[in-house]
Amino acid sequence: MENFYITTPIYYVNDAPHIGHAYTTIACDAMARYHRLLNHSVKFTTGTDEHGQKVYKAARDSGIDPQLFTDEVSKRFRELVATGSNILNVTNNDFIRTTEDRHKKAAQQFWKRIKDNGFIYLGAYSGWYSVRDEAYFQESELVDGKAPTGAPVEWVEEQSYFFKLSAFQDKLLEFYEKNPDFIIPASRYNEVVSFVRGGRNYEQGALKDLSISRTSFDWGIKVPDDESHIMYVWIDALTNYLTSAGFPDTDSTDWLTYWGTKEKRNCTHVVGKDILRFHAVYWPAFLMAAELPLPKQIVAHGWWTIEGEKMSKSLGNVLTPHAMIKEAGSIDALRYFMLRAMSFGNDGDFSKARLNETVNAELSNNIGNLAQRTLSLIQKNCNGSIPQPDGLTSVDESLFQKVREFVEKYHENMKQYSFREAIEQVIGISSLANEYINSEAPWKLKNDNPKRMNTVLHNILKILGIIGILIQPFTPDAADKLLTQSGIKPENRSFLIIPKLIELTISELSEIISKNLPAPEGIFPRIVSL
Ligand code: MSP
Repeated sequence: MENFYITTPIYYVNDAPHIGHAYTTIACDAMARYHRLLNHSVKFTTGTDEHGQKVYKAARDSGIDPQLFTDEVSKRFRELVATGSNILNVTNNDFIRTTEDRHKKAAQQFWKRIKDNGFIYLGAYSGWYSVRDEAYFQESELVDGKAPTGAPVEWVEEQSYFFKLSAFQDKLLEFYEKNPDFIIPASRYNEVVSFVRGGRNYEQGALKDLSISRTSFDWGIKVPDDESHIMYVWIDALTNYLTSAGFPDTDSTDWLTYWGTKEKRNCTHVVGKDILRFHAVYWPAFLMAAELPLPKQIVAHGWWTIEGEKMSKSLGNVLTPHAMIKEAGSIDALRYFMLRAMSFGNDGDFSKARLNETVNAELSNNIGNLAQRTLSLIQKNCNGSIPQPDGLTSVDESLFQKVREFVEKYHENMKQYSFREAIEQVIGISSLANEYINSEAPWKLKNDNPKRMNTVLHNILKILGIIGILIQPFTPDAADKLLTQSGIKPENRSFLIIPKLIELTISELSEIISKNLPAPEGIFPRIVSL
């Protein structure tokens, strides 16, 4: 069996959740659901990043003890993804907080492994630090006295442990070369490779040793054997991916199944473009230093703007997941829009007009109408029992051939995290079936040619089942309704059913499809603008 481990970044708890957090979590959930539908064994984790100067400052500014502060803010992230039923309708198996004991233990063991292998030494750091980015910058990297992200920087001089990042330049380059799919999309792969190459050519190069501990505040995990230092928040945070897979117990089933081995790496990290360097450069170098297997893939997505503007507190346009769901009318509609509107790797814009337009045109008018028309005809003309076909015409054969091609492209796109294009294939199937029902006009056939009417309705019913199966990763609740109304039994909704639905007649599929259909109900409500 294939094993698949997918992670969201863990979110800083300096502030409440927003669109960026919702998006990554939903994208990972769509992928986790996709792999389950391929009958893979899936682990999906998310959580909160609770240490570091940014969170410490936010707690201090609120006048609350950092632990109590993080308990409170982390709760707002947990309610988005709580096991059972949750606001984003996601299916994560774990929620990890970096203040948990299991994580502190893992981070300290990780540090020890790197230290024992000779890649950590004590020195002194003097340079710039951006609290907002939780990142160190060299003088040459500053733009108008600020971090490249526009965040303010402060001068830091302190005793610090360093990680010998410079020792990993060639090893990283060799690894990227051997694994061209390690970072997707390809444009980001190229960006990372040239960043790492830069370190070889310039004295001020990218791959200078990295400061990995702090002494000027103490909100963090203590460095083993030197309690005057806490770990730099990124080495602490990245380790969460190991903690959740059972580290330091590298013999555990969870570890071997989900983190994997050097020969069979299983973990995929989905991250925003701003934190790619940490995941695609520092993280693999830390893992090489600790002699642990690397993740399988790093997937980098773009950023959302809101109505064409960068989202920011100062502009007052920060969108919370609750506000977005309200806008969309349901979590399904929001999930659909986010996965449909962002082209993989590029930035996307969250606009209310486009949200309404996309949901109404594609879900309500296209798929919704197809379902409504077909299911009510079956109810009316066939008493709700499944119509039996009477031989396929060449038009029917070509319809199914095209469906097969759409399904194939759907999978190709999903494998590349191109949700937008994968959804396009589902809409393609629905548009095709709408054209077919329009030209075959089964509503006219009841008296003249009931056998043909039955065949046409039988064909569309199977296509509705296929659409329902394919949209499960994106709109799980609506997909469930569509599948139930199309008679597809709950235990038969994996992708393996699709070829059967195409090849066999419904009477040969009694294991999969129930005999009678429930009375049809609306599946994709329209968004009504106020
Ligand atoms: N704590 C770190 C991650 C550590 S992972 C070991 C962090 N947290 S964050 O809360 O600031 O950001 C989490 C994710 O949200 C990042 O992937 C970031 O790219 C994403 N987004 C933040 N704002 C965003 C948008 N406006 N649009 C899309 N994603 C954005 O970084």
